[in-house]
Amino acid sequence: MKRSALSQLGLRTAEPPISWLMAAALEKPGLISLAAGFTDNPSLPVTQTREIVSSMLRGKAGQSPLQYGTTAGDEKLRTITARRLAKMDGQATKARAYQPGRMLITHGSQQLLYILTEILFDPGDIMLVEDPSYFVYLGIMQSHGIRGRGIRMEADGIDLAHLEKTLEALKVAGELQRLKALYLVSYHSNPTGITTAVAKKAGALKLLRRYEKAAGHPIYLLEDAAYRELRFADEDTSSALTMDRGSKRVIYTSTYSKPFATGVRIGYGLLPEPLLAAALRVKGNHDFGTTNLLQQLITQALTSGAYEKHVQMLRKRYAKKASAMVAAIQRHIPEDVKWAQPAGGLYVWARMPTRVKTDLNSKLFKAAMRQKMIYVPGNLCYADDPTRRKPNREMRLSFGSASIRNIEEGIARLGRALKRVM
Ligand SMILES: Cc1ncc(COP(=O)(O)O)c(C=O)c1O
Repeated sequence: MKRSALSQLGLRTAEPPISWLMAAALEKPGLISLAAGFTDNPSLPVTQTREIVSSMLRGKAGQSPLQYGTTAGDEKLRTITARRLAKMDGQATKARAYQPGRMLITHGSQQLLYILTEILFDPGDIMLVEDPSYFVYLGIMQSHGIRGRGIRMEADGIDLAHLEKTLEALKVAGELQRLKALYLVSYHSNPTGITTAVAKKAGALKLLRRYEKAAGHPIYLLEDAAYRELRFADEDTSSALTMDRGSKRVIYTSTYSKPFATGVRIGYGLLPEPLLAAALRVKGNHDFGTTNLLQQLITQALTSGAYEKHVQMLRKRYAKKASAMVAAIQRHIPEDVKWAQPAGGLYVWARMPTRVKTDLNSKLFKAAMRQKMIYVPGNLCYADDPTRRKPNREMRLSFGSASIRNIEEGIARLGRALKRVM
């Protein structure tokens, strides 16, 4: 056959770069992966889940979790989740932004990110992303032919001056009509660990509003709060929902995967109209509702108190693992490598001195492989943006799935690889 039967999307969608890293970890015995974004295995809530499932599946009450549900998701779960969010944001549960009717439950927040992209973007449209951003989302963008523009980062989130400059450049180039949203991983970000300051969210929202007139349509702020509950230092901060006049421009997504069990994959979001209606229609086509059994499992975990207890324990556990990584970095990594102490999430982002590259073909990556350790090369976390070169001297180190011993040993190995290369 001369031609492929694949669609444009099927042909265009590239292999996720992370699959190679995952395969490498499985193939090489003794390899320590500080690349995986997995969570901590030993602390997964096995006993709690078994108890909840067995009590859920008793008698007639056990029928409902085994039946189809609604497209929007379990009403009780939406109500509890919306109330929790209002509380976290210090708002009244009756505030418009936190109405359960605005909420959609999805198969992981990943499904919601995918659906949102499908309802907002046509090929050639533009998304503003943090520079660097969540590489799986960059994959969705690549697959849909979405053009990315990276917004530079500072220690407390995006550089608002650079956001403004980018918006202005798009306006001058007549491209603002193609711009649909700004995507922020706003709490303990994947990959940088950065939390966006409240003032920056407000500033970004204001700037997007200012350029809407020239765009001729709303420009949304997509706030991905996947790591919000994995905070182990500092105070929680308000989401962008609190500063969205009329609840019209902020899309908030988050997940029960990270704070409870990544195998359960229950995600959720609060969406403004008309996005909610469109997302429900598309979700209806995808699967007409997230697995009811898993939604009710999370509902039970929330109402019984098991969830809250688990999150408290996880915070302490990740604080310990993060400290172990930080101590190992201080011990084994040269001082001219720059990194920041994480206050939550699963990652440390490290920047090498100018002359040291970190990509998959770099001397450092190869030296690390010889030492039997891998990291996520930083260049994989940058969108394809024709207005700048992708930086190539950073790496993401995860303290999520490796044991404390392997975190220490993995960093020691990285230290040896760095000494060979520097
Ligand atoms: C920033 C970010 N958003 C969303 C997700 C998706 O998580 P889930 O689909 O399990 O909710 C992840 C997972 O790693 C993530 O890192």
